[in-house]
Amino acid sequence: MRVTTNRLKTMKARAELIPMVTAYDATSATIVDRAGIPAILVGDSLGQVMLGYDSTIPVTIDDMVRATAAVVRGTENALIVGDLPFMSYQVDIPTALRNAGRLLQEGGAQSVKLEGGRAVAPTVKALTDAGVAVMGHIGLTPQALHQLGGYRVQGRSDAAAAALVEDAKALQEAGAFAVVLELMPSDVAGTVTSSIDIPTIGIGAGPACDGQILVLHDALGMLPDFKPRHARRYAEIATVMQEALEKYAAEVRGREFPSEAESFESRK
Ligand code: KIV
Repeated sequence: MRVTTNRLKTMKARAELIPMVTAYDATSATIVDRAGIPAILVGDSLGQVMLGYDSTIPVTIDDMVRATAAVVRGTENALIVGDLPFMSYQVDIPTALRNAGRLLQEGGAQSVKLEGGRAVAPTVKALTDAGVAVMGHIGLTPQALHQLGGYRVQGRSDAAAAALVEDAKALQEAGAFAVVLELMPSDVAGTVTSSIDIPTIGIGAGPACDGQILVLHDALGMLPDFKPRHARRYAEIATVMQEALEKYAAEVRGREFPSEAESFESRK
């Protein structure tokens, strides 16, 4: 039985913190699920960490549907949140409904995420009215990279902090079940968190949030040359993989692999 959006709300009410990570493929998602992570975001960060783009902007709804379906196939317990990519919900509400529907019907997700505050509240309302569970995302919204002028901490002035509180309240009012707070001062995230009843999930937003999310590749050290300040590495998987592959190549070159035990004989 998968974790539900209601379960996440109950966790906030009971002050149980919510750990989340991203996943984009069935194999990794199985490991995340077995680690007892209650909710997985199939993030459009897939653009950078899986597809090699330099932002999330080129990611398409087809990319997201395929990745979401893979993550759903690889999991049994976690709530799956499928990310709506750039221009899959901003154009108009019918387009948002159609694309959210694809993440649920073709991808098998239990919920969707979209970026923005008050500006997208009518879209969130239309989606929730149609029965779609929606996670919001405010602060640094990477799809607005060029409009924001880069990956910058948001909400540093009093006015900007107050605007984030209003955005979070509007998302809650529109029916969102949770909201991601990305790259904002810890005190601002704390104020947002105590201003709403739905869980806040922070990334670069300090310890006062109701949960935290990390991009899987940041948490596992899969990107050796990229270490954002907000992330903590819990493993050095890139180093482990490289060393293992160097050993494999050396054993092939030295005729140590395959051995007899790894080979087959003909039936005589
Ligand atoms: O796409 C993503 O990975 C995200 C997280 C950073 C919250 O939106």
